[in-house]
Amino acid sequence: AQELTILGLESSCDDTGAAVVRMAGGRGDILSNVVLGQDHLHAAFGGVVPEIAARAHAEKMDLAVEAALAQAGLTLKGIDGIAVTAGPGLIGGVLAGVMCAKGLSAATGKPLIGVNHLAGHALTPRLTDGLSFPYLMLLVSGGHCLFLQVDGPNDFIRLGGTIDDAPGEAFDKVARLLGLPQPGGPAVEACAKGITPTIRLPRPLLDRPGCDMSFSGLKTAALRARDAIVAQHGGLPLAVRADLCSSFQAAVGDVLAEKSRRALAMADFTAFAVAGGVAANAALRSALANVAKDAGVPFVAPPLALCTDNAAMIAWAGGERLAAGDIDDLTLAARPRWPL
Ligand code: KG4
Ligand code: ZN
Repeated sequence: AQELTILGLESSCDDTGAAVVRMAGGRGDILSNVVLGQDHLHAAFGGVVPEIAARAHAEKMDLAVEAALAQAGLTLKGIDGIAVTAGPGLIGGVLAGVMCAKGLSAATGKPLIGVNHLAGHALTPRLTDGLSFPYLMLLVSGGHCLFLQVDGPNDFIRLGGTIDDAPGEAFDKVARLLGLPQPGGPAVEACAKGITPTIRLPRPLLDRPGCDMSFSGLKTAALRARDAIVAQHGGLPLAVRADLCSSFQAAVGDVLAEKSRRALAMADFTAFAVAGGVAANAALRSALANVAKDAGVPFVAPPLALCTDNAAMIAWAGGERLAAGDIDDLTLAARPRWPL
């Protein structure tokens, strides 16, 4: 079988990533996976500032590439293709990565492959577990929440997704209004650990057919519950706060589990895979693993470093396209929006 060594670049949000992945026999070997985070640059602003992110990507991408090649023990001579996230994302950052990749491609004559960031996430279970098509992917992060039927490297069907907030966003906001630190997901999970949920919260859209989801109403309901507790107790007792965290997490889990059950029934899938930061939550993971078990398919959750933003997934997705002879040229555009 053909062996391909791909350099991948990622800069669509607040992580500057460069990685080298070797593909052989339908499997991937991660030779390096460098991620330079920017949390310290954005912390004072309470969110990612696009202009600051773009500048940091432009300043750090060449260093990330140099480190990724060095860690892989390679020079550009040993690379067969250059894959880069061409969208969707914060456009200044995407442009920084695309310009860097075009420069490398122009200078070396190596093929350039523009990768959809969501395709990168969606194809990760092939890199880690060699899944075959079609499989179901649930992508749950701070920015995304969608079900994808993955039929091929460039062949995705969106089965449903959130119509408002992503669950990670809801976890972060609930943590903030309960006085817990950011990122909110891990803080809420830790606070909820071992606590039986007793506070009634809605399970939005379960009465509606299909796999669409909504999390903004759930967040508002948690806010109202907090206000009612504060009015009743003159404060937020720690035990009640823990109950609220547990009840919120249980509601998110019920919604994701029921919608996953429906999505799994929509085709004959080889597996149920999850990715994204929220997939790190142990309670949610076990709820989703149970759904897969009931449906009789394997449950696949890649290691966390490959579930969150990284360049190894971009290298792999680019490699899948290069193997099929599907490449771009220097007219490749950076796209803020790019539905799969
Ligand atoms: O995929 P990710 O690292 O970044 C993007 O959104 O692109 O996901 C980050 C999100 C944050 O909202 C964070 O609160 C959430 O994932 N998260 C969690 C957990 N760990 C991270 N949510 C629930 N439970 C967790 N253990
Ligand atoms: Zn992402």
